[in-house]
Amino acid sequence: MGIIIRTETSKDIEQVFDVNRAAFGNRDDEAQLVERIRRSEQFVAQLSIVAERDGDIIGHLLLSKAEVVDDESRHEVIVLAPIAVLPNVQKLGVGTRLIEEGLKRCKELGYGLVLLIGHPDYYPRFGFRPARSFGLELRQFEVPDDVFMVCELQENALRQIKGELRYPVSFFDNSGSAR
Ligand SMILES: CC(C)(COP(=O)(O)OP(=O)(O)OC[C@H]1O[C@@H](n2cnc3c(N)ncnc32)[C@H](O)[C@@H]1OP(=O)(O)O)[C@@H](O)C(=O)NCCC(=O)NCCS
Repeated sequence: MGIIIRTETSKDIEQVFDVNRAAFGNRDDEAQLVERIRRSEQFVAQLSIVAERDGDIIGHLLLSKAEVVDDESRHEVIVLAPIAVLPNVQKLGVGTRLIEEGLKRCKELGYGLVLLIGHPDYYPRFGFRPARSFGLELRQFEVPDDVFMVCELQENALRQIKGELRYPVSFFDNSGSAR
């Protein structure tokens, strides 16, 4: 398949919504999460990345800013969420290409860590490891240790950045429930 991986443009926004909706079983939650993040201060335009085939969007990855805080300091980090590939083209490597491009861009932009909540069978191949074993904490969501993961992009970032990951307000819908 001739697939182009590129930055999202304003013309893609409707199709990006539809791809997220379709990938997540026709529910809108993740598609709306994308819209909230896009409107927020944590949005980084180069980190909303699409996969295009024959002029159609078939996949989308969003990485955005969050903070790791401890008693003394706040560190800017990146969180990965969501990632979506249309059901009929899953398992063909599209997700892999989106994540590899996303991590490369984050590294070039100088970010030290990317964190996520995700499937422990999928993300380790990209360099993600259980975050709590590196002194990172997550309190906003109750999740098992192996699904809260971190990828180190700059040398020593894991040694320098410790504390609690705080997802920004855009990750929580109006009812206050977590996504
Ligand atoms: C997760 C997702 C983005 C992966 O994209 P993809 O293009 O299908 O992935 P790739 O082709 O690059 O990789 C395929 C591998 O991922 C695995 N995989 C795909 N979806 C997975 C999932 N939900 N959980 C665990 N592993 C998964 C496949 O089993 C395959 O593993 P293998 O290489 O060991 O056989 C895609 O399946 C998707 O959109 N799923 C629905 C939405 C979702 O769950 N998003 C993640 C949560 S934010």
